[in-house]
Amino acid sequence: MKKIKTITLEWNGNELILIDQRMLPTKKEYMICKTYEDVYVAIKDMIVRGAPAIGATAAFGYYLGLRELSDSLISEKSEDVSKRIFEKLASSRPTAVNLFWALKRMEKVFLENINDDDILVILENEAYNIAEDDIKINKSIGKFGQEILSDGDTVLTHCNAGALATVDYGTALGVIRGAIDSGKTIKVFADETRPYLQGARLTAWELMESGIDVTLITDNMAGWVMKQGKINAVVVGADRIAANGDTANKIGTYSVAVLAQKHGVPFYIAAPLSTIDIEMPDGEGIPIEERNIREITHIGDKQIAPDNVKCFNPAFDVTPWNLITGIITEKGILRPPYRETIKKLFDK
Ligand code: MRU
Repeated sequence: MKKIKTITLEWNGNELILIDQRMLPTKKEYMICKTYEDVYVAIKDMIVRGAPAIGATAAFGYYLGLRELSDSLISEKSEDVSKRIFEKLASSRPTAVNLFWALKRMEKVFLENINDDDILVILENEAYNIAEDDIKINKSIGKFGQEILSDGDTVLTHCNAGALATVDYGTALGVIRGAIDSGKTIKVFADETRPYLQGARLTAWELMESGIDVTLITDNMAGWVMKQGKINAVVVGADRIAANGDTANKIGTYSVAVLAQKHGVPFYIAAPLSTIDIEMPDGEGIPIEERNIREITHIGDKQIAPDNVKCFNPAFDVTPWNLITGIITEKGILRPPYRETIKKLFDK
């Protein structure tokens, strides 16, 4: 039986245990997922969030669904059962392509081994491999990415692309961890990331837990800290990278990229290849999740805006490829023109 335990998730061979990220940093609470519906709720309600973490969680969700419904495989066509689980989990959140990538990988293994008596063991192994691989991939992103940073640099990051957004180690924060692991002293400025506050609640907490020097700022301070020469590089994660390099990430990323260009600060994306949607020609078609406006009108339980005010709450934005200095992947750092460098990587 395969087991895995990280800060973000634990697979104990029977159920998936997730730290409830909505409660951090003040409380450590956990959700135990026993069914694929539990996993659907965990992703939809952002108990787990961050593109690679969502992918790995969904993979275990698919396995749990098949395990749960394996009795009905006798009465129902197995492809239909798989489709039902796939579609439910796929409907949890629309932007991070890792969700669909992981589900497709699980579905493929299911269809290839449909008549194997050990199908459930095979699926559990596949989910486990997705989770284990994610850690290795992030460490590789860290190794390649650390080259962009010099000893003494300060990095600005937005949202949380750390251990909590992945199975472990992180992508953008993996680059920072990689540089520190190679002996460099690196400081971090973390945007608070309104309205959901992943930067304040998660990045600041995670970096402090790891003993990494972090300074929290509100989003509207990013331009001013760049102007003052405090930032050597921006490194952020991604939810979906189109074939031309246009990148969807947490709302506010685009503004940071524009500010970085204005101030001559290099702007990097750190993401696994599973975040590249090769079928998506450019950023125009990337679905952008819109979330409940209460995230804007309230901070916690406190109302901060008039009743019935009109709000717009997109959870992600798209940074055009020409604002991105490099895309740090587990296979190396991609440079523009991304349509060519990404294609080359996928054609290999
Ligand atoms: O809405 P969230 O918290 O799931 O958004 C997360 C982000 O935008 C991250 O930057 C992205 O998923 C990369 S995580 C390594």
